[in-house]
This record gives sequence, C-alpha cells and structure tokens, in this order.
Amino acid sequence: MRTTVGWRADGAGATLRRAPLERRDLRPDDIAVRVDYCGVCHTDLHAVRGHSGEDGMLVPGHEFTGVVTDVGPDVTRFHVGDPVAVGNIVDSCGACAMCRAGQENFCHEFPTLTYGGTDRHDGSTTSGGYSREYVVRDRFAYLLPDGLDPAAAAPLLCAGVTVWEPLHGLGVGPGTRVAVAGLGGLGHLAVKLAVALGARTSVISRSADKAADARRLGADDLIVSADPEQMADARDRFDVVIDTISAPHDLGPYLRLVAMDGTLTQVGHLGPVTVETLDLLVGRKKLSSAGSGGRPATAALLDFCAEHGVTADIELLPSARVNEALDRVARNDVRYRFVLDMSDLA
Ligand SMILES: NC(=O)c1ccc[n+]([C@@H]2O[C@H](COP(=O)([O-])OP(=O)(O)OC[C@H]3O[C@@H](n4cnc5c(N)ncnc54)[C@H](OP(=O)(O)O)[C@@H]3O)[C@@H](O)[C@H]2O)c1
Ligand SMILES: [Zn+2]
Ligand SMILES: [Zn+2]
Repeated sequence: MRTTVGWRADGAGATLRRAPLERRDLRPDDIAVRVDYCGVCHTDLHAVRGHSGEDGMLVPGHEFTGVVTDVGPDVTRFHVGDPVAVGNIVDSCGACAMCRAGQENFCHEFPTLTYGGTDRHDGSTTSGGYSREYVVRDRFAYLLPDGLDPAAAAPLLCAGVTVWEPLHGLGVGPGTRVAVAGLGGLGHLAVKLAVALGARTSVISRSADKAADARRLGADDLIVSADPEQMADARDRFDVVIDTISAPHDLGPYLRLVAMDGTLTQVGHLGPVTVETLDLLVGRKKLSSAGSGGRPATAALLDFCAEHGVTADIELLPSARVNEALDRVARNDVRYRFVLDMSDLA
C-alpha cells in the first residue's frame, strides 16, 4: 500500500478532516497521479450530507487534474510528468454492450465510481480526489490538452462532461435553441458549451441576479423562473432544455418551455419525479436524462474545450478550506465552481 493524505468525512453531516489515506500499489495498467486541483461538485455535498458513515469514511472528489508520478509496467499511453485529468468513473467491465460502445458510464455492471465505488479487483471502497494522490487504471485517465488551465479544467471532468453528452447526443449545434435551468457549476458550463456549439442559448434562473453573468457567458437572455409572465412568454421556445437544478422541483414549468418534439434533459437532482403526462403530450415532448461521460466523449470534450477555450469560472481555495467551500455550495454562494488547490497537502 501507498500512503497519502486527504479530506475525509466520518459520518452523517460530518465536517471533513485531514487524514492519512491508503492507495493500492500499482497494478500493471495503473498510473499514480499527484492530484493538484479538484473541483467541488454539488454531488460531493449530497454525498457528505447524506453519508451514513457505516463504512467509516468518505473522501469525496471526482473531477481532478494533476500529474503522472508513476506508471505500471503495461502502461503505454502515459509517462511520468504527463498532465492528466480524471472524472467520476475509474473502471467498468469493458465487455458489455455499453462499454463496447464507449459508454462506460452506462456499464451494465455499473461503472466503478471515483469515490464511494467498489473496486472490481479487491472489493475495497474507492476514495476520491480530495487527496494528494490517486491511483487509477490508465484507461480512465485523460491527457490534459495543451492550453487548458489545469485548475479551471478540473470541473470539465464531471460538470462539463455531464452536460456535454446530452448536448452532443441531442445534436445541439448552430441554430438550436437551448435553455439551461440553474446557473451553477453544471449550468454555467452547459451555457459555455452550448454557445461554443453555435446554439442560441438562454438561462433560466430563480432571480435576475445572474443576468449579467449569463450574458457574459454568451447567453442571449435570462428568464426568471419565479416570474410567471416571463415563463409564459417563453412557452414552447426551446428545442433543448438542460435542467441542472440541484433541488427537487416540479418539471412542469420547464417542460412547458420545450418546443414541439423537443427535449427536457434532467441532469441535476436525481431521484423520483412526478410528471403530468399532458405536459409531454401537448407538443410530443420528450423527457430524458444523462450522467457523466464515456471515454470517447470525455476525450472529445477535452479537445473541444482546448479548441474553443472553454473552462470553468472558478474560485480557487486551498484544500484546507474544503468545509467552507461545501457550506457555500449549500448556500448557492459560488460563481461558479470551487476548485481545491491540493498543494497544501504536500
Ligand atoms: N447527472 C449527473 O451525472 C450529475 C453530475 C454532476 C452533478 N449532478 C447533480 O446536478 C446538480 C447540480 O450540480 P452543480 O454542481 O451544478 O450544483 P450547483 O453549482 O450548486 O448549482 C445548482 C444550481 O441549481 C439552482 N438551484 C439550487 N437550489 C434550487 C432550488 N431550491 N430551486 C431551484 N433552483 C435551485 C441554482 O441556480 P440559480 O441560482 O440559477 O437558480 C444553483 O446554482 C446537483 O444535484 C448534482 O448532484 C448530476
Ligand atoms: Zn460531480
Ligand atoms: Zn460494461
């Protein structure tokens, strides 16, 4: 075993504490990564706040960048010193139809999650990127393209690819009318990516507070979801609505903004939803979801972002301020992603 250090929660609602952490010795197709920057995803907050503590510990973090420090004997794609990125999937069966199609995120045996997952070889529970070192199968690390700032690129690996796959899958391009509901970590990257793809893009937010930001990110306008008149004006306006809202909510008002034969994609708060069938029937509307990304889509996203200069708007904090970051995510006090600088764990 290798020993590193990370930020760990030990039970429901616990604050994270600095603690030593074990990483496995490298398997033949593993690489070791020095984690430099790790994004703070709302999912980390859901995980920490909902954590039962039964298995003792939780180390969150599933969008990070860093540098390769060691490679297993079978690794050919990476060398020590390479800048790399890792997202929220670190393994999959490799044999099912989804894996063969490059959609490892939908692996029939369920992909191994970067934290809170079960390692396919030794059955251990995975610990995430809020740490100084991560050991990962080389297939699930990505070379970070030149020109992408490693801190601002870290959120591309969860927030970015989670909105990239549906944008791509729904054929968003020049002329598509896209709305993004919830301007947070996922939402602001959805806006940047939709705009870079050539779509006419709007933001749906609870208030007008983020209107100037929405325009700076490239959106045409911001619709205030709390204003029934603005919502009525936007009826049937969008081919694609990407819903990144982190709290349970009624999908009806958002479905009514979808144009005929258009799609509402629910990528934010997951869990049971109630849908009034008439909201789908009138206009033959579609409801879909997506999450994370397969290996080809993740690599394509990184290339696209390097080409178009897309990274997250971040607030960089020393990792020792992780609890403050989580509290502020809970209060929606972030524009638009916290990234932890792990160098204070050196
Ligand atoms: N499908 C996946 O694989 C996947 C991947 C990553 C994250 N997620 C989930 O996606 C959600 C968003 O994550 P994130 O990191 O982008 O979160 P975030 O940065 O906290 O942003 C969430 C946004 O949702 C809106 N919002 C928050 N509370 C709301 C409420 N009560 N009613 C209406 N709107 C509300 C806010 O936008 P406004 O201020 O503009 O209204 C906020 O900025 C989380 O639930 C996360 O767990 C899913
Ligand atoms: Zn995430
Ligand atoms: Zn599989």
